[in-house]
Amino acid sequence: MERSMRTLLGCVLAATLSLPSMAQEEVNLYSYRQQSLLQPLIDAFTAESGIAVNVVHAEKGIAQKIQAAGANNPADLVLTVDIGRLDDVRSADLLAPVNSEVIDSVVPAHLRHPDNLWFALTTRARVIYTHKDRVAEGELNSIADLADPKWKGRICTRSGKHVYNIGLIASIIAEDGEAAAQTWLEGVKDNLARKPQGNDRAQAKAIFEGQCDIAIGNRYYMGKMHYNAQSPEQKDWADNIRVVYLDQNIGGRGQHINISGAGLLKTAKNPENAVALLEFLLSEQAQALYASANFEEPVRAGIKTDPYIETLGDFKADRLNLQAIADNREAAAKLVDVVGFDL
Ligand SMILES: [Fe+2]
Repeated sequence: MERSMRTLLGCVLAATLSLPSMAQEEVNLYSYRQQSLLQPLIDAFTAESGIAVNVVHAEKGIAQKIQAAGANNPADLVLTVDIGRLDDVRSADLLAPVNSEVIDSVVPAHLRHPDNLWFALTTRARVIYTHKDRVAEGELNSIADLADPKWKGRICTRSGKHVYNIGLIASIIAEDGEAAAQTWLEGVKDNLARKPQGNDRAQAKAIFEGQCDIAIGNRYYMGKMHYNAQSPEQKDWADNIRVVYLDQNIGGRGQHINISGAGLLKTAKNPENAVALLEFLLSEQAQALYASANFEEPVRAGIKTDPYIETLGDFKADRLNLQAIADNREAAAKLVDVVGFDL
């Protein structure tokens, strides 16, 4: 064999041998989302794209972990529920803007950071659960109504400090200012049937057991309770409840929502794969999965909702940009302390 031929063959062999590691496209993500929800989405993405997805599930402190790792941080993407957790990562200056026509066309402006540093994948309406008989239809219509003294001793909620309630209170500060929000929160506290405790489903249970007639809770829990095969008693809790969407009148601000969302990390080593995954999560297929598996509201228009969730009716959502909610979270947490909401 000629020398040049041998060299060429050697090169081809070397290239072939190194091919598997070069060809293994991947994307790495930090996620607050439950594995059971995420896995079907990831499997569908990998099947379609050939890109492997490595997930590190995190409980809290993602921003601190990323900061500590610096340039060695292995993650490309952050996936969270609640704007607060997403904004922690943004305010630590860890997110890069994403330029994607898909994202721009699918995600409405109020569900995106003004510079595309984060954006929503689903929305999560924080609604009012009322007892079907003990609260008449149309008797409670506005978030302001929760502070009406006529509901004294009839409202249940989880801690005011939980991120879901912080988001709600922050939205009221953004809309009406701190002083008005404080007056409202004091009014709601005066109406509580018991000290704030438990999660959202515990409030549905409390309505079922007659401890209160009104509670604050995320709508997707209605689906989680209705279909709960492991704890069928939760179906009874849900069956007792009428979901009330707030501020639906013409000119009203609309129902408060929070989001699940994502952001691309500045230190991402696979930014193109990360954007491909984000675009996939906004596809019809993935958005339908979010709606059927976790009962959240898709951000993509025209996705079919779960049949049970459909029976709960449709609503007009608040179009306040979620960044305005994030910006008022600290003030909201302070108000919870000032009025002693959890005491
Ligand atoms: Fe939740």
